[in-house]
Amino acid sequence: MIVNLHIAVLAGDGIGPEVTHQAIRVLDTIAKKYGHVFNFEFGEIGAASIEKFGEPLTRETLDRCLKSDAILFGAVGEPQYDKNPDATVRPEQGLFKLRKSLGLFANIRPVKAYSTLQYLSPLKPKYLEGVDIMLLRELTGGIYFGKKELSADKQEASDLCIYNTNEITRVAQIAFKYALQRRKKLTVVDKANVLETSKLWRKTVTQIAADFPDVQLEFMYIDNAALQLITHPKDFDVILTENLFGDILSDESSALAGSLGLLPSASYGEGPPLFEPIHGSYNEAKGKDLANPIGTILSAAMMLDHFGLTEEANNVRDAVGWTIENGFVTKDLDPVNFYFTSTIGEMVCDYIMNKTNVAIHKENIQIRKSTII
Ligand code: IPM
Ligand code: MN
Repeated sequence: MIVNLHIAVLAGDGIGPEVTHQAIRVLDTIAKKYGHVFNFEFGEIGAASIEKFGEPLTRETLDRCLKSDAILFGAVGEPQYDKNPDATVRPEQGLFKLRKSLGLFANIRPVKAYSTLQYLSPLKPKYLEGVDIMLLRELTGGIYFGKKELSADKQEASDLCIYNTNEITRVAQIAFKYALQRRKKLTVVDKANVLETSKLWRKTVTQIAADFPDVQLEFMYIDNAALQLITHPKDFDVILTENLFGDILSDESSALAGSLGLLPSASYGEGPPLFEPIHGSYNEAKGKDLANPIGTILSAAMMLDHFGLTEEANNVRDAVGWTIENGFVTKDLDPVNFYFTSTIGEMVCDYIMNKTNVAIHKENIQIRKSTII
């Protein structure tokens, strides 16, 4: 099967452009190898868009996304806005508007621990071996999108957390379906001992569970889940949770993988799907060729999966696995012997084209010396 895809690329701020650039190189390599045509159409988002157009996501860019087959997204955010909580126009609003306008309510964040990275993890290897979690974060509801208020005297503020049964049902159904294809366990994370929305989540999910008798369903409070994720990560299969809890747990779970820079994500819903790394814009590293491109490259692999290009997606994942296994990692993973963003991208492409002919000295990995010396 040969495909011709129109991919909107919103690279955004900070390290966004350099990591998306590597993902595009990888997609171009896949296109060349398998005979596909990937057309990339670029648009602005975040601080980059505010600078140019005065708003974080223009109608034109949104229209381009709506007309595309998929969206590849980098990152948004800039220190100038982080330092100024009073700024009313903010980079993140572009991302929220995009998620909401495309109705991307299901955000899938797979978490895997790479055995070769265990020596770099703050966690003991015995906790990490075999970790394989599918975190499903509701993405267009909850406190992120509820009414926000600041009193006239600016001494009081509130954020409304709101969910309806329809929003819970549609994402829960996806979670059960994923669980069925995996180890058939679903953990729903909430704070039902305190929050009314959590109680509604429990009630709604319990009703849906009747249609999925083969899935083992459990509920867990967010405080406990944050602990269990570190102490017993292997116990989790599919985790389903609301927007804010999902945001927090996904950053936490990246410690299991080894770095925030490794985790990809895919967002599905009504409009074209969006693929983005879970990390932010990491402005300190901007333009230095130091950022980890793997989260974005693996997001591109999820995009290939979505279009039924399983062999191509596996080819990308194998290439990524090869770089990691051989110690070809960026500075976030190995501050001593690290490789540049662009070098990692090149190695992934070379592996895909069977062009890797470096002699690798694996004995150097543990002693933190370059594996090609
Ligand atoms: C994420 C990010 C965003 C979020 C930020 C950039 C607003 O942290 O995708 O996890 O909170 O959703
Ligand atoms: Mn986040």
